[in-house]
Amino acid sequence: MKFIFCLSVLVGAFFFTHSSVQKEDHAPYLAYLKSHFNPCVGVLIKKNWVLAPAHCYLTNLKVLLGNFRIRVKDGTEQTISPINIIRYWNFTDSYPQDDLMLIKLAKSANFSHKVQPLALATSNVRPGTVCLLSGLDWSHDNNGRHPDLRQTLEAPVMSDKECQTTEQGRSHRNALCVKFVKVFSRIFGEYVAVATVICKNKLQGIEVGHFMGGDVGIYTNVYKYITWIENTTKDK
Ligand SMILES: *[C@@H]1O[C@H](CO)[C@@H](O)[C@H](O)[C@H]1NC(C)=O
Ligand SMILES: *[C@@H]1O[C@H](CO)[C@@H](O)[C@H](O)[C@H]1NC(C)=O
Ligand SMILES: *[C@@H]1O[C@H](CO)[C@@H](O)[C@H](O)[C@H]1NC(C)=O
Repeated sequence: MKFIFCLSVLVGAFFFTHSSVQKEDHAPYLAYLKSHFNPCVGVLIKKNWVLAPAHCYLTNLKVLLGNFRIRVKDGTEQTISPINIIRYWNFTDSYPQDDLMLIKLAKSANFSHKVQPLALATSNVRPGTVCLLSGLDWSHDNNGRHPDLRQTLEAPVMSDKECQTTEQGRSHRNALCVKFVKVFSRIFGEYVAVATVICKNKLQGIEVGHFMGGDVGIYTNVYKYITWIENTTKDK
């Protein structure tokens, strides 16, 4: 959990120092996993399924779609309980490997301009492709436990070879590494989850609780798990 926090703090610093105006990004596919523990982010991939990191597993979590600001309601908020949570069969807490789970929602989400599913990767992404890192953030005047902004930043995907030269990339079988455009220069006490990597409007990576340090971010390569995701979420 320490790693997640570091990643979060550093990326929070990035957003804070490099965006003087915090504007809400669209990102209607982001799901906030609300619990009494660390905030986590998932992605709505079908009307009744959310893909998330397995380290976010908690029995009492709620999935918030649409607006998740607590103080301002705009009628787009949808809070849905999971009916089933399926962690990837080979996931263990001791490794950053296979850090994926599928959350089946007790009822289907209603799509709107604020709630839309995101397509899954259909191939591996070419190194150098500039992708969007999309996640949640705290606005300047939010001192609460829960984030209230969607944020995105751009970053290029690294080659597997380059990824393998980094310590955590080497120890992670199915990693997707991205290079943050600017090195984080300071730590700010505000944190965020840069939860997802989206390339050409497809979900390519999802956060692992493992910070690489410096200017590299490591994610689970979603494309490597497509068979499992499709099989698990297909309507029976
Ligand atoms: C399952 O996970 C462990 C630990 O990460 C790894 O050593 C092993 O190779 C994995 N097995 C398969 C079949 O992927
Ligand atoms: C979707 O809309 C229907 C009809 O308005 C409503 O009954 C249902 O509760 C909504 N679902 C969610 C997840 O909010
Ligand atoms: C697909 O999922 C079912 C359970 O939903 C499981 O029994 C089966 O082994 C899975 N097949 C593959 C290829 O993963």
